[in-house]
Amino acid sequence: MTQVATATITQAMITPFDVQKIREDFPILAQQVNGRPLVYLDNGASAQKPLSVIESMNRYYRTDNANVHRGAHTLGDRATADFEGAREKVRAFLNARESREIIWTKGTTEAINVVASGLAQSLQPGDEILVSHMEHHANIVPWQMAAERSGAVLKVIPLDERGQLLEGAFETLLSSRTKILAITYVSNVLGTINPVREMIAQAKAIGALTLVDAAQALPHFNVDVQQLNCDFLAFSSHKLFGPTGIGVLYGKANCLEALPPYQGGGEMIERVTFAKTTWNELPYKFEAGTPAIAEAVGLGAALDYLNALDRPAIELHEQNLLKRAQLLAREVPGMHLIGTAEQKVPVVSFKIEGLHPSDIGTLLDQQGIAIRTGHHCAMPLMDFFAVPGTARASFAFYNTQEEVEQLFTALQKIQRMCC
Ligand code: ALA
Repeated sequence: MTQVATATITQAMITPFDVQKIREDFPILAQQVNGRPLVYLDNGASAQKPLSVIESMNRYYRTDNANVHRGAHTLGDRATADFEGAREKVRAFLNARESREIIWTKGTTEAINVVASGLAQSLQPGDEILVSHMEHHANIVPWQMAAERSGAVLKVIPLDERGQLLEGAFETLLSSRTKILAITYVSNVLGTINPVREMIAQAKAIGALTLVDAAQALPHFNVDVQQLNCDFLAFSSHKLFGPTGIGVLYGKANCLEALPPYQGGGEMIERVTFAKTTWNELPYKFEAGTPAIAEAVGLGAALDYLNALDRPAIELHEQNLLKRAQLLAREVPGMHLIGTAEQKVPVVSFKIEGLHPSDIGTLLDQQGIAIRTGHHCAMPLMDFFAVPGTARASFAFYNTQEEVEQLFTALQKIQRMCC
């Protein structure tokens, strides 16, 4: 579990983390939107990219671009080295045992689909798939499809009113019928950090497989897959300061070996005849077609960038942003926070009485402030909180205390103007 700051803000807690210097690495942040300096608070949807990521992809296309693993020439060899080098960077970042345990996908959604569609072939009627009520649709719908195909049953861990897993509910639902626990590490709407390490240990004790959706966790804290002991873990590059179009499925080698391929085509085969086709070894068995090579290079550069930062200092900085936001929220009349878990990343979902979330988003945008509004691809969670949607500010390490204040000053103004 991440080490996070607690208690209220004091001067001593303001870290020496130099956020202004960090911001210089992100060219997109230095612009005006609607005549105001951009305040980008939609990092949960997609994070901004440091110059090193942008330049790494530029360099790749300028000097090395070719297809990979086909190697009859120098550019092909360079592209393959760049591409497999990026895979090794992901392995090291997650502390996976072997780089063949790192599968490139389009993103978290595809990674979860690879596992769910594969397991659908071995699940039996009456087997149970366990998810939580706070999952993103990407960690619900693939399992519903797997359940429909196999006759398995989807079970849902309920929540409490703070947006945490209801105490004791997971233990009650876990049984010998549970074949897979698929759980988000961090809720994209609430910011809640789930105790996944403990849950994985309990699920494994009864022989269930485990999958962690780490899309919203990795931008905020490091995850070690060997310590977690999960069988599968998924994340997206674009939320982790890398390019769009690529993500990762980590799987323990024996679990990936046991899973059938997701798509057929080039790269994933060993030998093709019209009578029978045999599969390539890991990781290529799951990588049909020409992969997203430049994007892998960009993700590798994003990981280099993150590795060079002081991540504990970042966590403290982000927790200070969160604490400030939670304090200022109390001063906006009619404002209600949705998701007040004890362990949270800096994500603040809210509603304001008398205002529709999309109007809040539009009015903030007029002041240069970018947030996300709507159901956040978590409709069951919206139903739980009985709201059609929320407004959500999601912070990254390059956000500042001043930006938190700008957000709440703007919200005060909107509230006075409209209510
Ligand atoms: N899942 C992303 C979000 O929460 C798109 O905004």
